[in-house]
Amino acid sequence: MKDDDIEKPQAMKIRQGIQDAMTYSLPDKKFSPKNIDLVEVNIELDNLGWDFHNYRILNISDIHLGQWINPEYLEDLVDYINTLNYDLLVLTGDYVSYVLEGYDTALEASLKRLESPDGKFGVLGNHDHWMGADIIRGIFKKSAITDLSNDVVQLTRGEDRINLAGVDSCTVCADNLDKVLEKLNSNYPTILLAHEPDFALESSQTGKIDFQISGHSHGGQFIIPKFETTPFRGPNSTKYPVGLYKVNDMIQYTSKGLGTNSFRIRINCKPEITIITLKTKNKRKIPIE
Ligand SMILES: [Fe+2]
Repeated sequence: MKDDDIEKPQAMKIRQGIQDAMTYSLPDKKFSPKNIDLVEVNIELDNLGWDFHNYRILNISDIHLGQWINPEYLEDLVDYINTLNYDLLVLTGDYVSYVLEGYDTALEASLKRLESPDGKFGVLGNHDHWMGADIIRGIFKKSAITDLSNDVVQLTRGEDRINLAGVDSCTVCADNLDKVLEKLNSNYPTILLAHEPDFALESSQTGKIDFQISGHSHGGQFIIPKFETTPFRGPNSTKYPVGLYKVNDMIQYTSKGLGTNSFRIRINCKPEITIITLKTKNKRKIPIE
């Protein structure tokens, strides 16, 4: 990737300055569940053990705190998420937008309050790197979120296990899939968190990832009715900008995210919270006495 393709933080700060004022002057800045698309997706995995059948993973992505989404909105959003029914919470990047200073305390307070029975796991997005990856990682730590940047953990339920993996942002060339592959146990199914959905082209080619969860695109902030896709596709979300895809043998899911880019407008493309329910394709073995 050329240097010119990455926006420079100074230019971002100017944009953020303008948006800051607008965020706080909007009449409809309050959170309401009515304005959220709570998407339920069933994902069938070949080698998923029965103990993970109906396991529920809640994903949030692209909060972009400080750019239209203000700290009060995020607090209410967290309260709402904590009322939902899920086993595990995963976060797929872009927690801030063009400014981190002044929003770090609010971000930490909200992420800390997110509840999850089996823990909280996340990766970083391009904006997090632009604004300060070390600070975001520090916020993760204080909020009990495990940083899965180029890392893998194994989740256990009864007799069964899954690999939960993550790659760092490929927009800033921080991804290291080889490091992830080294740590995978190929006896278990693998779920990968990757901020940029088009990373699926690379991850699916390994043949070792079953399912990838991403954000980054905001669904293009405009979804064509009936076609359920978007013409607005930015870098690293041109191929898989919204919803479910099959990429080689891997399933890709791209969330529409919660926040927006510089343009606050979203048409037929509400902010999204996703709940993924894992389903096994294995036949159940019934012991015969
Ligand atoms: Fe992004």
